Amino acid sequence: MLDIAFAKPALPKSGALVLLIHEGEKPSGLWAQLDEATGGAIARSFEVAEFKGAKGKTCAILAPGAGLTRVLAIGLGKPAEVTQKILEEAGGTILANLARETAVAVANSALTGQQAAEVALGAVLRSYRFDRYRTKEKPEDKPKLSKLTVLTGEIPKAKAAWEKLDAVAKGVFLTRDLVSEPPNVLDPPEMAERCRKLSELGLKVDILGPKEMGKLGFGALLGVSQGSVKEPRMVVMHWNGASGSGRKSKEKPVVFVGKGVTFDTGGISIKPAGGMEDMKWDMAGAGTVIGLMAALAGRKAKVDAVGLVGLVENMPSGSAQRPGDVVTSYSGQTIEVINTDAEGRLVLADVIWYAQQKYDPKFMVDLATLTGAIIIGLGHEYAGLFSNDDTLSQKLTAAGQTTGERVWRMPLDDAYDKQIRSEIADMKNVGGRPGGSITAAQFIQRFVNGKPWAHLDIAGMAWSAKDAAVTPKGATAFGVRLLDRLVADNYED
Ligand code: BES
Ligand code: MN
Ligand code: ZN
Repeated sequence: MLDIAFAKPALPKSGALVLLIHEGEKPSGLWAQLDEATGGAIARSFEVAEFKGAKGKTCAILAPGAGLTRVLAIGLGKPAEVTQKILEEAGGTILANLARETAVAVANSALTGQQAAEVALGAVLRSYRFDRYRTKEKPEDKPKLSKLTVLTGEIPKAKAAWEKLDAVAKGVFLTRDLVSEPPNVLDPPEMAERCRKLSELGLKVDILGPKEMGKLGFGALLGVSQGSVKEPRMVVMHWNGASGSGRKSKEKPVVFVGKGVTFDTGGISIKPAGGMEDMKWDMAGAGTVIGLMAALAGRKAKVDAVGLVGLVENMPSGSAQRPGDVVTSYSGQTIEVINTDAEGRLVLADVIWYAQQKYDPKFMVDLATLTGAIIIGLGHEYAGLFSNDDTLSQKLTAAGQTTGERVWRMPLDDAYDKQIRSEIADMKNVGGRPGGSITAAQFIQRFVNGKPWAHLDIAGMAWSAKDAAVTPKGATAFGVRLLDRLVADNYED
């Protein structure tokens, strides 16, 4: 991970310097010093480039003199309109432009400690790479930048803020690693082992195998898993940041549930070959819950939280579930499995019921790469939000705006629920093409037992084909920052 340091504002003698500039700002401080040291090169470049500090605009000056390799100016827009998102994006821009530099310092006339840490977060998030399986990468293709120094007058405040944000970044990286891993490596048992490692952060981790789940009666989850030679797992991760330290009496925990299909072939209702490799990231909901729990523990969030993930592989085989099978879920409700490719909801049904029986949640949020239909509806900009609770929905929407991990509320309605009525069981697992994401959410809602609940369909958000400001292409870890913020803004203390 990119090393972050904070230092007092001073002109560096070598390497690259980034100037973060507000719209309409006049040269002062380091900026003015630099302009003088370079014989006016900065002012001349800004003039030629018509750079005035508008949000997202940049101006690069190569070999400006004064011993520096380059200066990169990044516009922040009007001072009164600078948000955390803008500062993070500036950090991301630094990484995207200067990854081949060895030393980079970032300056701005008035960065508070908190803002300095936010720039650092953006840079770190953008620096993510998954190169575990590259054995022949050329040195000139590798990033060189290993340390970023952010200059601020408030060093202790910057360090304190960074300690928290660093933990969130580590959670994001963990999720991205899990989602990026190939499906032969990351099968359900391996994913459970990676959860077990989180005990190093102070989380309590319980792992259930097929025997335990069989005894409990997890017929829906086990039906999905039965075609695979890989054993299923359910992992429960506990973080007792409110009650654990003895600070507080026990309160209801906040609960997060993730779909963890480590590979989704579709089962007997098999998917077409083209693009099937994408289904290695069908465990992104679970990966996000795991990264979130690591983030909460890493920053010692003052909350009691439980993360549960249902881990299975969906394979066709002689032992696989058939279209037409009827399974009995842990809730006791029976399900006619019309399409074995609608497996995520079957996994979630049992884990969600278990979460409520066992932990009496304050609320539950589940995350799942559940439907292709949500990509048709919302594309790759918003995750679908389905909820039985307006307050929880509003809080999630607000957290989405601040973090940039945005969610859009979709309807739930008895009228849609009719589509999943079955002729022979309590329900069927598909409701036809119309409103495919909604009928999937209606299915999950049948396993919600009167608790405030939100379902995030992240099928369009878990993986990105192109680089974005603070998210390189590939696994995004969408949801880690969103839910960390939901907790931080509403459920601590
Ligand atoms: N994991 C898929 C959903 C998915 C599709 C995620 C494409 C990301 C990209 C899910 O298990 C699935 O197969 N859903 C089916 C449901 C259908 C059979 C009702 C789908 O969306 O086609
Ligand atoms: Mn599927
Ligand atoms: Zn799936």
